[in-house]
Amino acid sequence: MNFENRLKEHIERVESVIQGSFDGESPAHGIIRESMMYSLNAGGKRLRPALLLEVNKLYGGDEEAAVQFALALEMIHTYSLIHDDLPCMDDDDLRRGKPTNHIMFGYDIAVLAGDGLLNLAAEVMLDTVIKNNYLPNFIDAMREILKASGPSGMILGQVADIKYETESMNRETLDFINKNKTGKLIVAALTAGGLLANAPVEDVALLGKIGEDMGLMFQMVDDVLDLTGDPEKLGKRTQMDVKNDKRTYPMLIGIDEVKIQIKAYENRLMDYLDRLSVDTEFLKELVHFLALRDY
Ligand code: IPE
Ligand code: IPE
Ligand code: MG
Ligand code: MG
Ligand code: MG
Repeated sequence: MNFENRLKEHIERVESVIQGSFDGESPAHGIIRESMMYSLNAGGKRLRPALLLEVNKLYGGDEEAAVQFALALEMIHTYSLIHDDLPCMDDDDLRRGKPTNHIMFGYDIAVLAGDGLLNLAAEVMLDTVIKNNYLPNFIDAMREILKASGPSGMILGQVADIKYETESMNRETLDFINKNKTGKLIVAALTAGGLLANAPVEDVALLGKIGEDMGLMFQMVDDVLDLTGDPEKLGKRTQMDVKNDKRTYPMLIGIDEVKIQIKAYENRLMDYLDRLSVDTEFLKELVHFLALRDY
């Protein structure tokens, strides 16, 4: 199967389980469900679920269970975007080609929709753990995802991103922010995929390293696209980092140097992928796509 079809298959698989992931009949149910589903169904690249499903498949894991973890991860990522877009954070009005959650539903409901997605993600994973008789590797995968998104992972990175906004910044600090705010969820996608499928310990460790580099490369491209991208294609506004006085890679080292470093990360990732014990053709193409993406 070629790269595009395999990516499409992963995306369709996770999207097929979004519907009906919770229900209830009161008016309040309707409001929270609508706002959560609005952002979750808005699309996006579905990178994290695709990574988790691909790795799980490579190591022969159970697909039905993995798709629930992939859904949970996408719920957490989507919640992080809803909160990231709030006026008290990046103040964005466009996301995934649509008005942001708070523009549609108000700040109060947007905060609760984010909270709801985080909670529901934990429920979805725990239900899967229980359904599979508390498999220790499933519990490890759940822990990996929750830890990566928590106050020593994505949330920590978001705090640093806000806290260091107006302070002087060096490369080390910028890497620290991005390793956490963006890198940790990408690491978790890869390592959770490996853990769910009982991949060899050495491979899970290597998947963690791959995720770290992929996360930094991904954020470099995100920063470049904020400056040079097309909002139509990106589905989000550009020039927001300058407006919000964010320290980004282009601002720190210049856009040409960032592009050189993206290429260097891409090459290094190819070497890492060669060291895994499975066929990494799709993952290599995905890395190449992520380095060159324009959305
Ligand atoms: C955006 O993530 C936030 C960052 C970590 C830079 P994505 O670019 O993966 O967003 P979607 O899921 O495609 O909308
Ligand atoms: C956000 O990074 C990372 C998250 C944890 C949500 P950005 O603020 O750069 O993401 P965009 O550019 O709004 O998608
Ligand atoms: Mg932000
Ligand atoms: Mg933002
Ligand atoms: Mg950005």
